[in-house]
Amino acid sequence: MHFSSKVTTTLILFFTFIRGAVCVPAPALLPRYSVNTTVPNPCMPQAVSPRNQEDIFFGFVNSFYITKDYQEAYTHVAGDLINHNPTSVDGIASSFSVVNSLFTSPSVSIQLIHQVFGAPFGWVHYRVDGLNPLPTAFVDVWRMDGSCLAEHWDVIEEQPANTTNPHPLF
Ligand SMILES: *[C@@H]1O[C@H](CO)[C@@H](O)[C@H](O)[C@H]1NC(C)=O
Ligand SMILES: *[C@@H]1O[C@H](CO)[C@@H](O)[C@H](O)[C@H]1NC(C)=O
Repeated sequence: MHFSSKVTTTLILFFTFIRGAVCVPAPALLPRYSVNTTVPNPCMPQAVSPRNQEDIFFGFVNSFYITKDYQEAYTHVAGDLINHNPTSVDGIASSFSVVNSLFTSPSVSIQLIHQVFGAPFGWVHYRVDGLNPLPTAFVDVWRMDGSCLAEHWDVIEEQPANTTNPHPLF
């Protein structure tokens, strides 16, 4: 009994060592990825034509959802952004910080599915992998005020483990 408990302890120590030996180098294998967490200067709303507003919106979509350049994206966000996401508060800093903490990890990928603009609202439907255990659908709705994104709502749905509908979620 004494012997067997010693063996167990040895085995636990051994596997702890193996686990440590395997896990420790792993982060070094990830690509180097530097994140600039300084909040960019916010957008100051200026009157623009509907055509310009649409161009600004799709430029923002490219930076936010495709190149993940949040420094560029947030130059289009108003300082007093109204945010309906329950994990944020109003203002550019809260939104910027949530997005930086959720989406900048190299293991999180975003796939844009639909983007639609009808002044002053833009809608973005996208798939996120690596954030939740299963792929997750997001819809962001943005309202623009002139040249800036001024208000945000989102709807988030993780793919259920079992579905009744034969159509895939994406
Ligand atoms: C980080 O972002 C701030 C604000 O946009 C900018 O002034 C600064 O130059 C950036 N730093 C780097 C290293 O890119
Ligand atoms: C999904 O279906 C499998 C097979 O019928 C079942 O074992 C499992 O518990 C279900 N999972 C959920 C989350 O309902």
